[in-house]
Amino acid sequence: MSENKKLHLAFIGAGNMAQAMIAGLLRTGDETFTLGISSRTRAKCEPLAASGVTVFETNADAARWADMIVLAVKPQQYETVLSDLRNAGIGAGKVFVSIAAGVSCASVCRQLGAEVPVVRAMPNTPMLMGMGSTAISRNALVTDDVFAVAERIFAASGKTMVLEEDRMNAVIAATGSAPAYLYLIIKAINDEARREGVDAPALLENICQMVRGAAEMAEHSPDNLDTLIKKVCSPGGTTERAMNVLYERGLPGILAEAMQACTDRAEELGRQY
Ligand SMILES: NC(=O)c1ccc[n+]([C@@H]2O[C@H](COP(=O)([O-])OP(=O)(O)OC[C@H]3O[C@@H](n4cnc5c(N)ncnc54)[C@H](OP(=O)(O)O)[C@@H]3O)[C@@H](O)[C@H]2O)c1
Repeated sequence: MSENKKLHLAFIGAGNMAQAMIAGLLRTGDETFTLGISSRTRAKCEPLAASGVTVFETNADAARWADMIVLAVKPQQYETVLSDLRNAGIGAGKVFVSIAAGVSCASVCRQLGAEVPVVRAMPNTPMLMGMGSTAISRNALVTDDVFAVAERIFAASGKTMVLEEDRMNAVIAATGSAPAYLYLIIKAINDEARREGVDAPALLENICQMVRGAAEMAEHSPDNLDTLIKKVCSPGGTTERAMNVLYERGLPGILAEAMQACTDRAEELGRQY
């Protein structure tokens, strides 16, 4: 990875997450990287060739070419992919970026049969819209410079936060899996409003705008979250009545329980892979 050479960044796997990351890098036109890809179904890679992404026949070809390799396959596919690379003698001298839920840096090294630098990241699907949130961590072999380069891959499609690796399972519940909780809440609000006869074609659009607006307030208002809640709840008003139901039914506790279940599952996957 010399200063005047573009870094060869290969993706193994051409699914949702790889496509989202590549789209982000192409959109921002980051000059740091030259992109390559290999996947089980080559046809999924072909459209990327027109954008200058090199499509390789095999994972080993892509990894041999690369300086940095993003493992964009499911946790259960890691064993096949990493043992193929190990058998091809690929490991030393490369940086690996793992995005699989629950798979530790140590597990990547073990399956690869080599002690290599591993960046472990947990992105989420809003990355497809360039609005991802990605937590990233690293093992001891990743230098500050290499870590900063790896962070750019995710910063091209949203925001990033740096964590110690032992918090990577817990963060899945907060950002990786959390879009699904919000989709459920959006769906419940939309369904109930329609049941109450609010049938404007732009209803869903406006609910989504409300979510975006609330998120902007949560992030940028000088008020903290408790104050923001209080400011919507006029005494004796409608919101106060609604919030009473949510507290009585224990919504914060339900969310905490769901998040704990999510983390437990990540720990289970970690023991499996
Ligand atoms: N989806 C999320 O919300 C999310 C969030 C954070 C992290 N992640 C992590 O991101 C990773 C990828 O998820 P995804 O949603 O992008 O999955 P996906 O859409 O299923 O993509 C996986 C890709 O890997 C390819 N593949 C499978 N076996 C392969 C092999 N032996 N060699 C090369 N390519 C192979 C698949 O090929 P085919 O096209 O032939 O199936 C597919 O293109 C997972 O580890 C997941 O835990 C996902």
